[in-house]
Amino acid sequence: MSPRTKISLALFGGSLLVFLLMQLVPVERSNPTGSARIAWDSPATEALARRACMDCHSNETVWPGHARVAPVSWFVANHVNEGRREMNFSTGHEVEIDECSREMQRGTMPMASYTWLHPEAKLSATEQQALIAGLRRTFARARSGDGAGDGHERRGDHDDD
Ligand code: HEC
Repeated sequence: MSPRTKISLALFGGSLLVFLLMQLVPVERSNPTGSARIAWDSPATEALARRACMDCHSNETVWPGHARVAPVSWFVANHVNEGRREMNFSTGHEVEIDECSREMQRGTMPMASYTWLHPEAKLSATEQQALIAGLRRTFARARSGDGAGDGHERRGDHDDD
């Protein structure tokens, strides 16, 4: 075996070992339970939110297969944790529709690293407007009445529009 071959093999073996060790780092990939179901104003709003935002801004994340393999799993879990901390549709935490509208118009949300692997999350201008209008109705309705303004109370069949 030539010295070059030996070095290549050692580098390959070393990288493989590091990759395998990375898989041992525990990553939290779970959805907190116990939050009330979101009282969507319509199935269309729900579908748009699920396509574009819900994986990071709700407790109903659909964890993708690639989220199982480190180091990708670290980025995914980090985005979900950070996303939920910033705003969570499931609990009503920090839901600011104007902010959502601004982020989407600037093209910063959904995150580019997400739309790269989830191209269906890219919304057209019309879809963005529909989502914003739907979110406004959904969260205005959740807020009216329960006083606490935390937006996760189910308001029954009461229809005010
Ligand atoms: C891949 C995960 C992911 C997706 C999908 C995603 N977000 Fe985010 N979002 C984040 C993270 C992480 C942050 C906090 C860091 C930042 O602002 O970049 C955030 C922050 C935000 C903020 C707060 C911004 C601020 O500076 O206060 C808003 C509003 C927001 N997202 C709206 C949305 C909307 C609306 C969608 C869907 C159209 C969406 N996000 C999709 C991960 C995501």
